[in-house]
Amino acid sequence: MADFYITTAIDYVNGSPHIGHAYEKVLTDVIARHRRLMGDRVHFLTGTDEHGQKVQQTARARGVAPQAFADEVSAEFRALLPRLEISNDDFIRTTEERHKRVVRDILQRLFDKGDIYKGEYRGFYSTRQEQFLQGKDRNPDGTWPEIFGEVSEIVEPNYFFRLRDHQAWLVDFLKANDRYIFPQFRQRQVMEFLKEPLNDLCISRPRERLEWGIPLPFDPGFVTYVWFDALVNYYSAVADRPGLWPANWHVIGKDILVPPHAVYWPIMLRAAGLELPKGILVHGWWLTAGSKMSKSAGNALNPLDLIGEFGPDALRYFLIREMNVGQDGDFSRELFLVRYNSDLANDLGNLVNRSLNMTNRFSGGTVPAAGVGAQAEDEVRALWEATRSEYLALFEQFQFHTALERLFAFVRSINAYVEKRAPWKLGKSTDPADRALLETSLATIAEALRLASVALRPVMPGASAKMAAVLGSTPRGTWTEELAWGDSLVGSRVAASLVLFPRPLPAADKAP
Ligand code: MSP
Repeated sequence: MADFYITTAIDYVNGSPHIGHAYEKVLTDVIARHRRLMGDRVHFLTGTDEHGQKVQQTARARGVAPQAFADEVSAEFRALLPRLEISNDDFIRTTEERHKRVVRDILQRLFDKGDIYKGEYRGFYSTRQEQFLQGKDRNPDGTWPEIFGEVSEIVEPNYFFRLRDHQAWLVDFLKANDRYIFPQFRQRQVMEFLKEPLNDLCISRPRERLEWGIPLPFDPGFVTYVWFDALVNYYSAVADRPGLWPANWHVIGKDILVPPHAVYWPIMLRAAGLELPKGILVHGWWLTAGSKMSKSAGNALNPLDLIGEFGPDALRYFLIREMNVGQDGDFSRELFLVRYNSDLANDLGNLVNRSLNMTNRFSGGTVPAAGVGAQAEDEVRALWEATRSEYLALFEQFQFHTALERLFAFVRSINAYVEKRAPWKLGKSTDPADRALLETSLATIAEALRLASVALRPVMPGASAKMAAVLGSTPRGTWTEELAWGDSLVGSRVAASLVLFPRPLPAADKAP
């Protein structure tokens, strides 16, 4: 059994979770569940990023201590996870001692080696972004873009991390590992960025300007820059769990690839003598009406509202079906409802209920054995064989949206098969050949639905389990074995009915 360690970014606690945060957790969860089904020993980490200027400011504005504020918002992020059926194994907070201890150790190590030195920083500083700005950040007219908020020039002593010394190594590393970052076009963006000489990274903030951070172990007059602190979470969470580091994948959004994850983090690890993660998976943004969904833009949708209305499975399905990993995607209630109604309520949910009804009506509630098969059954099985191998391959390549598209094409073909065989007509016939065909069709439909439920397990764990339960199916063998067409349902008792996805809107389609 191989270890598989996967992480999400850790969320800032200065705002409530929105769909963008939910997506990253669901995407990572689908990968984690998939790896578990493939037999890996998975460790799945998520958590919250709690230090820094923004949290200090937001807490102050509310008149509470930063720790109390962070406790409250971190709890909100944590509470979302079970609601979304996220199967994380750990949740790290950067205010935990287990984390701060490791950050201090790494800082001390780099300071002792001479990778960190004291210098003076002069520059334009954006409080909102918690970063010093450069000339290229200005608008053509010399003003600072809105996203930086208030910008002021400051000079202050600070500690610096020698990034530049490691630049040539990083370029060579990325050249030698040209699939380090997924999707690959993101790696090319990193290479572009690395064409310019790197500035050393200012990794401290004077205590008088920022108190809410981890004090530098070698100079308590300073706290650690929040990115240097936050990145370490991936390692600090498993530092005392042998065998887990390096991580297999860090799953992050495109806004935090360059420079933090693609430049600072590998250089920090190398300087500290630690191994690099094996890969970085970069997803795009959920947009609403063309702009990034975010708390500050005021267009954030609360995932809990949709979960409350439609359940976690429907939201998970939508996020994974609609988004091509790496690209941006549009979120709107209208798009959500289209998927919900057509794919989930109609194509899948209705089919499950029809299958149960017909099995009860024509076979006493027991899945019959498939006897005679004709061309239609051969076609269903052949389509399943093709779907199965594509589905498995697409999962390995993080092409979940296409995998689901193929799976639902299969589900639609079962609906067409039901119409073609019309078991309700066969059930009225007294011809033994029709009776045999009826049994074959009921068995074929039930088996197809069993396979769909197994395939959906990583994406819609709840709905998948319900489907398996009403079909009387119990898991046997590995996931890939369970995905093989078979006759394991023969003789099993099915439930009376199941409404998997109740319709939110009146629909025109005919009932079974
Ligand atoms: N705290 C940092 C990450 C530190 S990781 C060592 C941070 N936090 S965040 O709360 O702003 O974002 C957390 C994750 O959510 C990031 O990967 C970010 O890309 C993702 N998303 C935030 N808004 C998003 C969308 N609208 N769409 C998709 N994901 C986006 O950055």
